[in-house]
Parts: sequence; C-alpha cells; structure tokens
Amino acid sequence: MVEAVVFNKEQNRLELLDQTLLPVETRTVFCSTEHDTAKAIVSMQVRGAPAIGVAAAYGIVLGLNNPQNHARPFLEAFKAICDLLAATRPTAVNLFWAIARIKKAVKNAGCTDFSGAATVALPEADKIRAEDIEMCRSIGRFGASLLQSGDTWLTHCNAGALATAGYGTALGVFRAAQEEGKNFKVFVDETRPLLQGARLTAWELMQEKIDATLICDNMAGSLIRDGKVQGVVVGADRITAHGFVANKIGTYPLAVLAKYNGVPFYVAAPDSTFDLTIKYGEEIKIEERDHDEVRYIGGQQIAPKDIKVYNPAFDVTPPELITAIITNKGIIRPIYRDTIPEFIKPERFEAAE
Ligand code: MRU
Repeated sequence: MVEAVVFNKEQNRLELLDQTLLPVETRTVFCSTEHDTAKAIVSMQVRGAPAIGVAAAYGIVLGLNNPQNHARPFLEAFKAICDLLAATRPTAVNLFWAIARIKKAVKNAGCTDFSGAATVALPEADKIRAEDIEMCRSIGRFGASLLQSGDTWLTHCNAGALATAGYGTALGVFRAAQEEGKNFKVFVDETRPLLQGARLTAWELMQEKIDATLICDNMAGSLIRDGKVQGVVVGADRITAHGFVANKIGTYPLAVLAKYNGVPFYVAAPDSTFDLTIKYGEEIKIEERDHDEVRYIGGQQIAPKDIKVYNPAFDVTPPELITAIITNKGIIRPIYRDTIPEFIKPERFEAAE
C-alpha cells in the first residue's frame, strides 16, 4: 500500500509522494523546513484531510529543528511555525486538530526550548500518523459490512491511502471488502477541477486490483438513475456536531442524486474529521482556489484566458441526505445532533481552531 507522508528521521525531512504529478510520474518531494511543508500543502503535493494533518504535524517538527528559527524567543517562534502551517488550507479540520495536538503535547510537557519541544513533537506526530492508519483500517472494517458481493459503488475525489497516512477512508472500505473476499466494482468520478478521482483514485484502485471504471462527473446521474450503482461512499474534510459534511466540490449533488433515486449515500471519516465546536454547514469556511484550475486542465488552456471563474474547492452536504457516517468508532445512523456524540467524544476536539 502506498505511503504518501513519511518522515525520515535520519535526514530530518518529510518525504511526500507528489500528488500533483501522479499517475504520470512518481516523484518524492523533500521538505526540510516548515516553509517547504506549508508550500507542499498549499500546492496540494500532499492533500486529503488526514494527510495534511499528518504533514503539518511533521512540519512543526521541522520548524522546531530549523536553525533559522532559533534566534527568536522559543514561544514566539513556535507560534509562528504553527500559524504558518494553519494558514495553508482552511476547510479540513484535521489540519487544525493535528496542529493543536502537537501544541498541547508541547505545552503539557512544559517545554521551554526548541530541542525539548522537538523531542516531544516528533513522537506525537508519529502517533498521529500511526493512529490515522489504525482509524482507517477500522473505518474499512465497519464500511465493508455495508457492501454486498455483486454491488457496484461510486466514489468521488480521492479518500484513499494518498489522502491519509495509509489505507484510506472511503477507499479503505473497498480495501477491507476486497480483503474479505467480496466481489464488487467501483465507479470513479473524475472530480474536476483537479481530477483527484481520475488521477489518484483510479491509480490507487488499479494498484489494489479493485475493478474500477472512470466516469466524468456529469455521468453519475444517469448511472444512478439506471440502477447501476448500489452505494455511494465519499470522504470528508469537516463534519459538524449536527452532521453537516464538507467534502470535495461535487459531493452535495451526488448526495441529492442518491437520495432521489433511493441509493444509500455514505460518508467515511475518522473522528479527527469531526468539528464539534460548530453545528451547521454555514460555519465551515470553504476554500476558494486559483481560477486557472478551472481554465486549464493539466497545463492545457480549455477556456478563454480571461473568463470569469468561480472555484470553491468543497461543498456541504446536510445530514438528511446522508444514510450513515462510517467512523472508526462505528456506523452512525441516523445522523443528527444526538447520535454523533454517542460515537465522537467532544473532549478530543477542544483543539479545533
Ligand atoms: O482538495 P483535496 O484533494 O485535499 O480534497 C480532498 C477531499 O475532499 C477528500 O474527500 C477528503 O479530504 C477526505 S480524504 C480521506
């Protein structure tokens, strides 16, 4: 299984599989400082909610080890490192959760200098990474119980090993179902504008020898209406206390389609994706990205250079359209404000900023 985020302790560097180049080229990006890490997150060389959280955690370690920061007072520099990484992408709560976890570990250990803080931050980042893989495996096991042999499911964007520390959330469901010997097929939405489905999910599923078929985003409707899809499963970037789910743009229309056609619509996410400090979708900040992501595909201009563009990276799906949320703690169904706290405990999420 692919590992998209690896920390090389001997070299003191973060090694990321460059997700902007896949599947055409397999190249590693080396991050030696917090600035390199922030750049890799903004440019989406590393992407996916859990993966950017793990990368940011290691980015703090790199910042603490960066001699350029050592001339500044420790607390001031530590805050600047964390703020830099927190400013990279606004929607996925896992980023803020991971940064807050490192901050808390450093604070609780009473660290007052860079090397002491790095000694605490590195094992905490390792823990975040290891726990993420475990949570994905658990999501996979719960999710696989919903998939019957003979089913065809649809997924959107990439919620796979590439988007996490390993194994994946939505794709973890497929991995687990395959491990259980189930026979099934997957339709993969290409996921414009950045084509995470076509480039990353298609690549991952083929590597796992899972039967995958790529479709353009506008084909999902007729496939679902024609009874060719028995389930839809997607990942999430932030889930509110009342079950509103932010995920890749195009998730909400899929949920509407699924509901209209009586097909179950599942969200797969670890507890680090829940933000219990907010209740409603409107409270989630939706990232807007560069307009050229819409005007160009793979560097090829496909629209007038100066055409006006709107490019939100995520949308919000309300709980009434979601059949269940598959978490590492179990399957939440139905989804409303009273069911989520039975699975997800708020004290772990005080950290969300
Ligand atoms: O903009 P991206 O590629 O980071 O968006 C990723 C998604 O929307 C994923 O579905 C989500 O982060 C879940 S990843 C397990």
